[in-house]
Amino acid sequence: MVSHYSVLKNEVLNFFEKIETNNKYIVDATLGGGGHSKAILEKFPDIKIIGIDKDDFALNYAKERLKDFKDRIIFVKSPFKNIDDVLKELKIEKVAGILFDFGVSNFQLKLSRGFSFQREEALDMRMDTSQDLDAYYVVNYYQEWQLEKILREYGEEKFAKKIAKEIIKRRQQKKIETTKELAEIVYNIYPPKLRHGRIHPATRTFQAIRIEVNNELEEIEVGVKKSIDLLDRGGILQAISFHSLEDRIVKIIFKEAKKLKKIEVLTKKPITPSKEEINENPPSRSAKLRVAKRI
Ligand SMILES: C[S@@+](CC[C@H](N)C(=O)[O-])C[C@H]1O[C@@H](n2cnc3c(N)ncnc32)[C@H](O)[C@@H]1O
Repeated sequence: MVSHYSVLKNEVLNFFEKIETNNKYIVDATLGGGGHSKAILEKFPDIKIIGIDKDDFALNYAKERLKDFKDRIIFVKSPFKNIDDVLKELKIEKVAGILFDFGVSNFQLKLSRGFSFQREEALDMRMDTSQDLDAYYVVNYYQEWQLEKILREYGEEKFAKKIAKEIIKRRQQKKIETTKELAEIVYNIYPPKLRHGRIHPATRTFQAIRIEVNNELEEIEVGVKKSIDLLDRGGILQAISFHSLEDRIVKIIFKEAKKLKKIEVLTKKPITPSKEEINENPPSRSAKLRVAKRI
């Protein structure tokens, strides 16, 4: 069974120690494999968790993994931008802590959902497999300008225009069905001398399409903003980002909330994983944790 390494786990636990309210609820807004939740439940015996994910596989996996704690955790399938509705439904007004650990989990990468171009898989990329929009639709039906915009904005891809043009050309001959086909199109657009850099040429294109399919940036913007108002005074909000677009949104929301005197920012600079953690789990190298306390 694939496992998921929970990034910055000790740091997250240490920041939840700074909670200064008697409220006993923590929302894990990105439950995933339940790794952070498990650590929180073990460390804080009085805490109850509301675990949110939009992926049924993640929820089922976490339910099994956390069955020993079943009286202290409620599982909810929802996009986290509806965190306010989730709590309203549970008749919980405020909480003591909220954790976001954005992006996809190891499970999702290995579940043949087309998140990775390392293997030949159907173009899917949905976290919530019950939603309609998938990567196949984006790649085969979006207009050229839409593709170019996504690649530029969500992938920060400097060959956005050329890649979009080539996708349109190729799909007129035959629909683009798999991750490898898409990766190969991007690879060939890159000038030969740039094909063997630190990251594979298709990385940015895949990031961009994944963000579009899962509406990731809007989810973060709405979810994190709402979270600030759902915290009790003395409550702690933590957000782990994996790329600059995510981190920028959190940074701006914190800045604005600080100006309004709603929060104190506990991380002047974002916290990054230790050398040991990066050695153990190389993908953690891009993680950045920002933390705020509700005042
Ligand atoms: C990086 S994983 C979390 C791993 C988890 N912290 C752990 O330790 O096991 C991110 C999870 O959040 C979920 N997710 C991402 N964006 C979401 C959103 N907008 N709404 C709900 N769930 C989301 C994904 O489906 C995935 O399972």
